[in-house]
Amino acid sequence: MASYQYITTSISYLNGSAHLGHAYELIAADAMARFWRLCGKNVKFLTGTDEHGSKVQKAAQDRGMPPINHVDELSQEFVRLGHILNSTADDFIRTTQPRHIQAAQALWQELEDRGQIYLGNYAGWYSIRDEAFYHESDLVDGLAPTGTAVEWVEEPCYFFRLSHWQQPLLDYYQAHPDAILPKERFNETLSFIKQGLADLAISRTKITWGVPVPGHPEHVMYVWIDALTNYITALGYPDRQNQDFINYWPESLHLIGKDILRFHTVFWPAFLMAVGIQPPKRVFAHGWWTIQGQKMSKSLGNGVSPFELVEKYGSDAVRYFLMREVRLGSDGDFSHEALIRRYNQELANTFGNLAQRVLAFIDQFLKGQLDGQDNVEDPDETVLRTWGQVTLPLLTQLMERQDTYGYLDLIFSQLQSANAYMARLAPWELRKQGSEAKDRMITGLRSLVIFLKDAAILLSPFIPKAAERLLQSLGTGTAGLQDLGLFMYNPSSAPSPLFQKLEERA
Ligand code: MSP
Repeated sequence: MASYQYITTSISYLNGSAHLGHAYELIAADAMARFWRLCGKNVKFLTGTDEHGSKVQKAAQDRGMPPINHVDELSQEFVRLGHILNSTADDFIRTTQPRHIQAAQALWQELEDRGQIYLGNYAGWYSIRDEAFYHESDLVDGLAPTGTAVEWVEEPCYFFRLSHWQQPLLDYYQAHPDAILPKERFNETLSFIKQGLADLAISRTKITWGVPVPGHPEHVMYVWIDALTNYITALGYPDRQNQDFINYWPESLHLIGKDILRFHTVFWPAFLMAVGIQPPKRVFAHGWWTIQGQKMSKSLGNGVSPFELVEKYGSDAVRYFLMREVRLGSDGDFSHEALIRRYNQELANTFGNLAQRVLAFIDQFLKGQLDGQDNVEDPDETVLRTWGQVTLPLLTQLMERQDTYGYLDLIFSQLQSANAYMARLAPWELRKQGSEAKDRMITGLRSLVIFLKDAAILLSPFIPKAAERLLQSLGTGTAGLQDLGLFMYNPSSAPSPLFQKLEERA
């Protein structure tokens, strides 16, 4: 197994507050980063903010603020989002940082030195909302294909020879069919490339809020070439001998939303190939959330603040719901009712109750002691004791394909089986019977204690706080994958419920 893993989220535009979509991506990336750290990999997990371009410039103007003051202030909200979600990102990049401006200009210079850039005139449409250029033939009823408004732009600008990279991109994807997941996004990328790639405008003269083009400061870099570079800025580019660049770039995973697929699977690999850097190993595009069936939008005022959600339900509940409700590549619909239902049924009942029933019983009736005969006879007990070790390779395979949903599904179906086993064991009956029954009880409870520990370890990437509390109740100290299947039980106090049930609204 490769011992390095680089995980990035997209960087958020600073044109408004942090919303559920931003939280979603950060949570998914964090669960992956935590899992790979648990497996002993060296992980670098990057997130940050995209601070240049027309959209951000306009947002600053609307607030009557100089763009730099606007982004200095708003980027802090995204840093805070990471804190409240319990994200373990190793680096937070801002595209206005000197390290990034230097990297973006270096990439430009390399492209120019290799004859990949030429000066021309752009005459076409531009959508500020999408920060994207569109041809006349792309428009649908006068709007961008994404439904956003476009404006006519005519200006001298530099172009990147994207057309040269059509065939190399097709060849690359043919040789690397897993470079883009889910599969439908791979197919979408391929059909886009096959339609033909025109050269790409990569500078603007009508706006000033951007990275100056080296040697031509009347141009600023198109925000996407600037933004995409962030992924290598954080690895020390332009120093290609930087150890982080050498170790992490070959193991890169970009987690993005499906709306920004083309930028990551066409433009970005083309820029990289053009300077002799290999494309990212994997781009995974997640789906979009609606709110009670509607698109989240500022004008509808239906945005859900991740800050309010965490305040109300706690970070574990929000993390769990978003990861559990839909597969990562699919679209999801958010409602408080659905979150509360899942929280109560799965976290509080299936997981929390099992832990509480087992631990409270041992505390109350056995004074926290599980000494005695340990004769495993029942195959269900063997399953509970070996489940963690047996399942780890499957979970690893799922995580290799960013299937966070499948990961949780496997664990929760075993939690249900464990609940059924506890009901069948009925230790409250056995304790009243003779010594043979007591041995059965001890053996059964030990099996459950092993299973609970293993479930806590394996769930820790998703619900780190609850997992930590359960391990504390068990008194395991810090436990990792090497402890799967071991009996570790040394409680120092009476257990307390992992999750308080929430009231369901009528
Ligand atoms: N700045 C660009 C990304 C540059 S990466 C080099 C951008 N920013 S964004 O703030 O508009 O979006 C950030 C991420 O949030 C994107 O991956 C986007 O898909 C995601 N989401 C925005 N709204 C979303 C939902 N409603 N649901 C899920 N994710 C969504 O694009």
